[in-house]
Amino acid sequence: MSRVETTMMWAEKYRPMALDELVDQEEVRERLRMMLEHPDEMPHLLFAGPPGTGKTTVALIIARTLLGDYWRDYTLELNASDERGIDIVRERIKAFTRYVDMRSGIPFKIVILDEADEMTGDAQTALRRIMEESSRIARFILTANFSSNIIEPIQSRCAVFRFVRLGEKDVAGFMKRICDEEGCEYEEEALYLIYELSSGDMRRAINQLQATAVLGKVTVENVRNVFGVGKRSLVKDMVHAALKEEFNKARGTLLELIRVYGLSEKDIMKFIFEDVMAYKNLDHVEAARLLAEYDYRLSRGSNPEIQLAALLAELGALSRK
Ligand SMILES: Nc1ncnc2c1ncn2[C@@H]1O[C@H](COP(=O)(O)OP(=O)(O)O)[C@@H](O)[C@H]1O
Ligand SMILES: [Mg+2]
Repeated sequence: MSRVETTMMWAEKYRPMALDELVDQEEVRERLRMMLEHPDEMPHLLFAGPPGTGKTTVALIIARTLLGDYWRDYTLELNASDERGIDIVRERIKAFTRYVDMRSGIPFKIVILDEADEMTGDAQTALRRIMEESSRIARFILTANFSSNIIEPIQSRCAVFRFVRLGEKDVAGFMKRICDEEGCEYEEEALYLIYELSSGDMRRAINQLQATAVLGKVTVENVRNVFGVGKRSLVKDMVHAALKEEFNKARGTLLELIRVYGLSEKDIMKFIFEDVMAYKNLDHVEAARLLAEYDYRLSRGSNPEIQLAALLAELGALSRK
């Protein structure tokens, strides 16, 4: 069985680069097309809708369309739920908007603030002030799962675009295209099963497709296998490798679990705990202390890939004692 190349995520590889490549979202596309004809008049934007429906993708398309080849230099991408508080958000936006070193043809800088509805009300009030202070230089594109979680003063300063959950046929069609491109055989029914399991979230659907393709043909049976026992037994393999001090192997499996299988750090932590406690020849008191420490760090919003990799390394050291 061949292992999937975890560094090349299909969800990234097949992220649409133009509005035309986007599935569904006709209304959003139509309104944006008109707006992009008059970039100087573009207001701040708020993209609301379920996960994996194209919000971040469209924000990036707008940046590329309006800012051209140098779009990266004039675009700041922040994730509201990743950053540790509004102070950091403010500092980074301030630093970004401080210099007006615009090349000709660049109408403004763009700040993409993902998952803005994860911010507290106070933080949003501060954000509103930041938007006002920097509106001469920057346009904001906020994304949110629910626009109702965004305070009214921000909503009223934005043009709101509603992204809809993607339809079954369209998601299946997109997956077919990927399969053809990747030379991967599939059963039609398996694609519909993946759609069901991912409930209209294209990112999850593509990740599940890629995880299934690792087994060879994308069949109903393989989809079931991957999403039944697959993930759970991979965690076991990972813990086993870590305790044998095969760090690189353990870390490779970790990245696969996070990036391809989409397992949350919370679930990974829970499964690691079960597996470690089932291990004989291990100091369970020390192990529990260690896991509690990392559980706490993750709850404080530390980077899960870094923290969990460090945990695997420490488990290896612990097994030697
Ligand atoms: N409407 C869509 N059409 C085609 N692919 C999509 C669409 N929405 C999402 N995707 C796929 O899912 C991935 C995640 O999309 P993204 O725009 O980040 O979702 P979100 O709405 O959560 O911001 C993209 O890389 C792309 O491959
Ligand atoms: Mg997003």
